[in-house]
Amino acid sequence: MRAANVGDYRALAKARLPHFLFEYVDGGSYDEVTLGRNVEDLRSVALRQRVLRDVSTIDLTKELFGRRWAMPVGLGPVGLAGLYARRGEVQAARAAGAANMPFALSTVGGCSLSEVAASGHVPWYQLYFVKDRGFVADMIATAKDAGCSALILTVDLAVAGSRYRDARAAGGGVRRMVELLSRPHWLWDVGINGKPHSLGNLERIVGSHAPLADFQAWIRANFDPSVSWKDVEWVRGQWDGPLILKGILDPDDVRQAAESGANAVVVSNHGGRQLDGVLSTARALPAIAEAIGGRMPLLADGGVRSGLDVVRMLALGADFVLLGRAWAYALAAAGQAGVAHVLKLIEAEMRVAMALTGCTRIDQIGSDLLAGTGPRPRDRP
Ligand SMILES: Cc1cc2nc3c(=O)[nH]c(=O)nc-3n(C[C@H](O)[C@H](O)[C@H](O)COP(=O)(O)O)c2cc1C
Repeated sequence: MRAANVGDYRALAKARLPHFLFEYVDGGSYDEVTLGRNVEDLRSVALRQRVLRDVSTIDLTKELFGRRWAMPVGLGPVGLAGLYARRGEVQAARAAGAANMPFALSTVGGCSLSEVAASGHVPWYQLYFVKDRGFVADMIATAKDAGCSALILTVDLAVAGSRYRDARAAGGGVRRMVELLSRPHWLWDVGINGKPHSLGNLERIVGSHAPLADFQAWIRANFDPSVSWKDVEWVRGQWDGPLILKGILDPDDVRQAAESGANAVVVSNHGGRQLDGVLSTARALPAIAEAIGGRMPLLADGGVRSGLDVVRMLALGADFVLLGRAWAYALAAAGQAGVAHVLKLIEAEMRVAMALTGCTRIDQIGSDLLAGTGPRPRDRP
């Protein structure tokens, strides 16, 4: 099958990845209510069709943190991507770099920051708080030395939500071996030729044998539930570049984020992988945009599966949109070429969505594009 959209890449990823890995990428927490809402609420946003507005030239570019990107879209942090394809984070960073889009490297990526930076596209670095603060300080210093142009501090994982699919797919022995042997492409590409299978950024504290067998248990043991706004100030004191807080879903928290010294936030519920039952990003976004009133850029993610979804997020109040599963599926299915293709599909879909809503520039996309039912933000001034 030649993939025509993100859904096709999901199907290809399912066929290519060992079962437990596909479940890790695809799944959400508990009953996956929020995961479903993210996709469905966004898809339910109706846009106004506008006509006869000369849409022969469309400019998708967008400036963020002093750099002009090809479009207001980036690759958000996704853990363990080095297991979806050989040296997966490097392949994804290359695709993003070629498309002039940001790539965010997860703390729990397979490839280290130095390995990804050597690809030629220096990533944004996504930081999790682990209990060892000296180590967190070292990670910030490493990101600075590598020339990362933004630091994303993920704040919605003080504790880990349970994921039933991971629990069901866990286990080793014969069953795991059968799963691996039933995926010969993956076995050759990643299992044999994609080593080391470690968490590159955490090697110093977890060693070269990453705790992949029970990743969630490792997170529970090492992530720090005592994290508070004081720690954001502590990070602020050590990082003078753009600081982005990821995992904001409440208007009160976005106000506090602005006071804490953050330069931007990602409106996110971690792709429905943390507190199940919270609002979808699409529903949360308008009130957050209203609370922040343009004082800082709003990035958003959750359920974005097309260029049309990107335009919907922008209409709901986002300034920039991050992809999660959309790029992870494509990476698993077809490596760098798959990610590059998904980015091209998204660009093409954005062009059509903008043309048929009568927009020729990104800054023309606002709440006045929203029609009919679905989440409605305040009207922008
Ligand atoms: C497999 C997987 C791993 C993820 N790992 C991280 C991570 O390491 N750090 C982080 O901040 N967010 C992580 N996320 C959350 C994503 O950055 C993003 O918020 C989410 O995927 C958006 O939802 P979507 O995938 O439905 O578009 C992960 C998401 C997935 C699907």
